[in-house]
Amino acid sequence: MQLYPPSYFDDKANGYTLIKTIPLASAMGAEIQCVNIATITDAEFAQVKSALHRYKMIYFRNQDLTIEHQEALTQRFGAFGTDAYTKGIPGHPNVQRLLKEASTVVNRVFGDGWHTDSPFLERPPAVSTLYGRVIPPYGGDTWWCNTEVAYDFLSPLMKDLIKDLRIHFSAREVLRVNVRTNADGSQQVGEIKLSMDQQRISDGSFHPLVRTHPETGKKSLYVDQVYSLGIQGLEEEEAKPLLAFLGKHVTREEFSCRLRWSPGTFVIWDNRICVHKAYNDYDGYQRDMYRTIVDGEAPV
Ligand code: SIN
Repeated sequence: MQLYPPSYFDDKANGYTLIKTIPLASAMGAEIQCVNIATITDAEFAQVKSALHRYKMIYFRNQDLTIEHQEALTQRFGAFGTDAYTKGIPGHPNVQRLLKEASTVVNRVFGDGWHTDSPFLERPPAVSTLYGRVIPPYGGDTWWCNTEVAYDFLSPLMKDLIKDLRIHFSAREVLRVNVRTNADGSQQVGEIKLSMDQQRISDGSFHPLVRTHPETGKKSLYVDQVYSLGIQGLEEEEAKPLLAFLGKHVTREEFSCRLRWSPGTFVIWDNRICVHKAYNDYDGYQRDMYRTIVDGEAPV
């Protein structure tokens, strides 16, 4: 398959005057330079937002950010979303800390399967941000895939076959396989302490498999390998092979980019049009990240 020069993904500079964009891979992702997130202006933010829709995931290096800076940037996109797993950090209910200590050895870390953030909610997050404070000397990368390109690469007949399908998204399997109960009775998934209603996220929601971006009007595949448990109206045995195909298709390496973090890297991704996964390959080193989400809309 030839993806570059990009007939499906246009990574040209796009006339930005205030920011510099450096594509990370042919299918998605870009480093944004010449912007300080702590002092970003309205005009710069408008170009950053445009770049986000274009590149799906964008990142800024060497940002010296407080929690308040991250909160302020997040709110430029809209109201905070309610995190499905935790109540945030003390004094900052909308900021989740993803901390893996050097001494922690676990089979799974938060987000280590290919997923879209909280699709089991009625209104899944539109945008997610992640700030890296302490980064291991190697490992701990995050990998994303562009689900708009994945949709474009389906055959016309497949697009027609799937156009009205609705996916059942649920956290049931994640909770069943990964929840650990601590000595104090609290429960944990990876490094995340659970403090939200597990029944609600386990029941989940049904959303269109082919969704349309509310701002760009572009279609993408809304499916992942972690929370997509069924297809409305299909028996489990009927849905399974289709979900397996779609889950594999959206994560083809041609559609991907992979980010090597450094301390002070700040990342924003459009959660409606990509899937992502974290790597658990840095035992013996601390990784300390801060995450926020922007409230989304019911996918259509
Ligand atoms: C996430 O899935 O939001 C976490 C990604 C990461 O820790 O790299």
